Amino acid sequence: MSIKRIAPSILAADFANLQRDIEMVNQSEADWFHIDIMDGVFVPNISFGMPVLKAISKHATKTIDVHLMIVDPDRYIQTFADLGANVLTVHYEACPHLHRTLQAIKAAGMKAGVALNPHTNVNLLEDVIKDIDLVCIMSVNPGFGGQSFIENTFSKIKRLKDLIIEKGATTEIEIDGGVNDKNAKDLIDAGADVLVAGSFVFKSENPTATIANLKKIVS
Ligand code: DX5
Ligand code: ZN
Repeated sequence: MSIKRIAPSILAADFANLQRDIEMVNQSEADWFHIDIMDGVFVPNISFGMPVLKAISKHATKTIDVHLMIVDPDRYIQTFADLGANVLTVHYEACPHLHRTLQAIKAAGMKAGVALNPHTNVNLLEDVIKDIDLVCIMSVNPGFGGQSFIENTFSKIKRLKDLIIEKGATTEIEIDGGVNDKNAKDLIDAGADVLVAGSFVFKSENPTATIANLKKIVS
């Protein structure tokens, strides 16, 4: 069985204590850093941008998984590579030339991810699935942390898993939004490989222990 990963979302960290929270993730059993970039256009919220990612990269010792919730992400592919992103995920809904975008991300030396909004059908990826390293299924509407998990996600994971197998692809499935200790096991059983968790980790009393518990649940 493939490795199952936990990716704490830095969006829910304490930005006044960012270095402390990054060190906590470094020392924890987490696998990846999940970094949410929002532009206030693709989603109705603005998170943080390049200078903050640069500061995060300076301290992070694990894979940096950048989730771009921005329009026209092609403009910034090289910039994010230079800032230390290892996985770069763009939204299907923001990319009219998705195949070209995926090739550009790989040419810049990163793994290429595609995120799907809750209403976007997984079958739309049929013709590019072999070019995608990671599909991020949004289990909330993107833009904010702390929202409730959308149950239809389970059906999407199963359909995407079937598509990946049918096409002989090696794509990993990431789930983003409303992940907690109640749904983690079922998500993995449905076919997920990477679970993003923001509020559930950072708003808990002991984030290190919460990450360890999630890791135990998925292993
Ligand atoms: C939402 C972001 C998520 C968010 C998840 O637009 O993409 O990564 O940080 O936060 P929680 O785990 O609080 O739902
Ligand atoms: Zn995200």
